[in-house]
Amino acid sequence: MTKEQAIELLESRGQGHVMRGFDNLSEAQQETFLAQIDNINWSDFELIGNDSADARGEFAVPPAIELPEIASRKAEFEAAGIEAIKKGEVGAVLLAGGMGTRLGFDLPKGCYNVGETHDLYIFECLINNLLEVVKKADAFVPLYIMTSEKNDKATRDFFAEHDYFGYNPDYIKFFIQDMACAVDYDGKLLLEEEGRLATSPNGNGGWYASLIKAGLKSDVEARGVKWINVFAVDNVLQRIADPLFIGATILGNYVSGSKVVRKVEPAEKMGLLCLEDGKPSIVEYYEMSKEMSEAKAADGSLLYKYGVILNYLFSVEKLDEIVNNNLVVHVVEKKIPYVDADGNKVSPTEPNGYKFELLVLDMIHMMDNNLAFEVDRNYEFAPIKNLHGVDSVDSARELLKKNGVVL
Ligand code: UTP
Repeated sequence: MTKEQAIELLESRGQGHVMRGFDNLSEAQQETFLAQIDNINWSDFELIGNDSADARGEFAVPPAIELPEIASRKAEFEAAGIEAIKKGEVGAVLLAGGMGTRLGFDLPKGCYNVGETHDLYIFECLINNLLEVVKKADAFVPLYIMTSEKNDKATRDFFAEHDYFGYNPDYIKFFIQDMACAVDYDGKLLLEEEGRLATSPNGNGGWYASLIKAGLKSDVEARGVKWINVFAVDNVLQRIADPLFIGATILGNYVSGSKVVRKVEPAEKMGLLCLEDGKPSIVEYYEMSKEMSEAKAADGSLLYKYGVILNYLFSVEKLDEIVNNNLVVHVVEKKIPYVDADGNKVSPTEPNGYKFELLVLDMIHMMDNNLAFEVDRNYEFAPIKNLHGVDSVDSARELLKKNGVVL
């Protein structure tokens, strides 16, 4: 794209301000900037203010395996899961491309130290959990770590400096996710600095496409990986490549599974796994009618009660089938640092605009079926989103201690 083409395009879209300072850039910077402009997904902009989500279908309770059944079939599930891991059929993807703005920590979120008397980093907690499975199966699980342009180097360096926390580095691969531009509340593109659009990672939903783009499909194939367990960086009690979960999904002939915790209060804020017109679907708490969130089953418990915790298992075959399907783009309010018209850098303390994100939960809806696999939140769910309060460093530390982790 040439400068003239960029000006014409941007002006036709009311975004002419973006070109200020263009002539002060070096040739290389101009080229990068024009490529950024060329890559803008203008169709995303039409979604702003258009939050009337598509009409939803008919909801029903999804197939699930709850704690008592898991306990009674433990040996059977575990044997099937361990067998798959031993055969090298299970890989894991750590979603670590997020900005973690709520935590407000400068390094990647996984570098946060939750230790009190000794160092214990979030990444280390996750690797320790995965190493338990590795020991049990006597086989390493290939771990693919998704980063973003913003935190890739810091993440790689951190792992290397800490000797991969005892994991075999031959089984760790990093890949970078795509970025998307950000706009203010009027839909105007924000600049990170003159000659550079403010961009941020495009959500966790593009992980499989990004893994392929990074050339890692050949690694997945060479290792014979048939199942991928995708999980978030922030849950320090996360069980990764859990043989029980894998075994139950395989033995039940499902193409995907979701770890879920039981919702006990109608008002609890969690995305719930349901069936929607017969297909697996995740309904966010704010999308749910009062009727639906309060509906009761015959035994008096909540009818829709399977809260997702961002730990999913996907069949690779199925992922290949859906990877080119379009995912819904979500418009999300965030704090976006930018440079104002006078060239001043602004770091907002409150959300000041929108980012466009793809979400992994939308991939679940593309699956033919999905198993809700219940886990006990006291043992497996300690997300760190904030420093204090709900889902925080404080609450996660308490839960880690309850689970016997020395901090
Ligand atoms: P969150 O929804 O908590 O987003 O991500 P975030 O960006 O990390 O944090 P906030 O909202 O700014 O505080 C859930 C999981 O998805 C990953 C995160 O790293 C985390 O593991 N994620 C999120 C990505 O990998 N890429 C993204 O673009 C967004």
